[in-house]
Amino acid sequence: MYEGARADLGPLSRFLGAETRLGFGGWAVGGAGWGAAGDQRERATAIRHAVERGVTFFDTAPSYGAGESERLLGRALKADRARVAIATKVGPRDDPRASLEGSLRRLDSDYVDLVQLHEPLERWEWRLEKLHTLQVEGKALALGLCNATHLQLERALTIAPLATYQAAYNLFDRDVEERELPLCRDRDLAFLAYRPLAAGLLTGKYTAPPAPPPPQFAEGDHRRQIYWFKGREFERRRCVIERLLPIAQREGLSLIGLALGWLRARPDVSIVLAGAKNAAQVDETFTPDSRPLTPDVGRAIDAIVADVFRPARPTPQLPEAARTWGERERFIAERLDGKTRYEAIAAEWTDRGDKPMIAAQVKVFVDQLVEQGLAEG
Ligand SMILES: NC(=O)c1ccc[n+]([C@@H]2O[C@H](COP(=O)([O-])OP(=O)(O)OC[C@H]3O[C@@H](n4cnc5c(N)ncnc54)[C@H](OP(=O)(O)O)[C@@H]3O)[C@@H](O)[C@H]2O)c1
Repeated sequence: MYEGARADLGPLSRFLGAETRLGFGGWAVGGAGWGAAGDQRERATAIRHAVERGVTFFDTAPSYGAGESERLLGRALKADRARVAIATKVGPRDDPRASLEGSLRRLDSDYVDLVQLHEPLERWEWRLEKLHTLQVEGKALALGLCNATHLQLERALTIAPLATYQAAYNLFDRDVEERELPLCRDRDLAFLAYRPLAAGLLTGKYTAPPAPPPPQFAEGDHRRQIYWFKGREFERRRCVIERLLPIAQREGLSLIGLALGWLRARPDVSIVLAGAKNAAQVDETFTPDSRPLTPDVGRAIDAIVADVFRPARPTPQLPEAARTWGERERFIAERLDGKTRYEAIAAEWTDRGDKPMIAAQVKVFVDQLVEQGLAEG
């Protein structure tokens, strides 16, 4: 760690309690990338409703609505600036100083509580060093990193005094359980979970019975590219959701409450960043009675997910077919045994330190193997 780096969480710690909290994800209020955007007043009202419901942590990025999310948050939070934390990001190819200063102008604030490198791509270590300089200047009170491998996260901890790590986490998407969450625990990093509702899937509205086809998102909606809104993965997730609904009903919760309660009961999660587009969604998500699930309910959910997502088994033809494949495909094929979690296969590959892999890539590949009769699941 560089001389002068602050090792504590700094003023951010006031927003990170012993209990997991719900934070407001500011992507959708940027007005782009999530289908039809409501008018600006409606999106600003969503932010005010979050404040009124006691939310004190707001996550945004310069890329959300090309600055619109930051502008709106800046205006809507102005009167409460000292009572709330604003976290923004610096794009992986952006100049850290120009980016953060642009964010501060849009947010109409002298500082952000947290600035996060959005993704560690080329020259990312240099970018982190520059962000640390900006922290020393007081423009950001704390530093964070998003979407890294555990190896990058370990390296980052030797470069700058990181306070947070942010990555996708929900009851379907569990890559972080393998390496990053334990690392956060060991190194005292606050973990910020994004995609808690799987980009809207865990609201239940895209899977309402009877067995609908995958949703067709409008042009420009980033969910057109998300693999879980397509094919076999959509069907698996739909089956899980169908089995979660009676549990939610028994617990007196909405599906949203169940999905967020599951995350809030996970160890080592500091803040769950839930996105919302309008005041009605905020009111439904940030309910006063939202709470972590009990261990029994959490276990019941895990059992359903494990049952539907049982790893595939190889057929006798697989080893011969795999002989001519690339290294990564052979790596997956050799580990298919009907037991090993795809998250574990992806993490073991990532441990090697060259190209990272996530469970989604394993799933998509294994689905192709099943179609070709080389695996059964
Ligand atoms: N660091 C990163 O790389 C990264 C990446 C992604 C997200 N994030 C952060 O995490 C935040 C949350 O993740 P996310 O926005 O991707 O997804 P999310 O919280 O999993 O899903 C949010 C979406 O679900 C739908 N929704 C929410 N509440 C609803 C309700 N009550 N009824 C019906 N639909 C509802 C809305 O979309 P529709 O109404 O259009 O369905 C909303 O935009 C983001 O805003 C951002 O701050 C960070």
